[in-house]
Amino acid sequence: MTERAVLMLSGLAVAALLGGCAEADPPASTGAEIVRTRCTRCHSTERIKAGAARDRAYWETTVDRMRGNGARIDDAQRATLVEFLASGGAAGL
Ligand code: HEC
Repeated sequence: MTERAVLMLSGLAVAALLGGCAEADPPASTGAEIVRTRCTRCHSTERIKAGAARDRAYWETTVDRMRGNGARIDDAQRATLVEFLASGGAAGL
């Protein structure tokens, strides 16, 4: 990753934290935190664990559909979450 990309990503992470405060959502920066604070309002983590073995394409589509359903995550959190879920993180929830 280039230094510029790293700077951009950390900028997004800071914006995510500030945005989270403004919206009164608790800050969340790791995949597990994002699931716990943003993904359990409408269903339990069991629903997410059930897809633990699914691939990146599934999680990109699903996370974007959840945003459409009403999940409040910003772009930086989406990237973190897709990375976490696509690498099997849901198995440890
Ligand atoms: C506002 C309510 C809401 C929130 C918040 C929400 N979901 Fe969902 N979720 C749903 C509904 C409704 C369904 C069933 C319909 C569908 O699949 O879109 C669902 C289904 C799912 C499924 C099963 C999909 C399948 O293939 O059958 C997964 C996995 C999932 N959600 C993951 C997540 C994740 C990850 C988050 C956090 C980013 C999240 N959900 C946040 C409403 C929500």
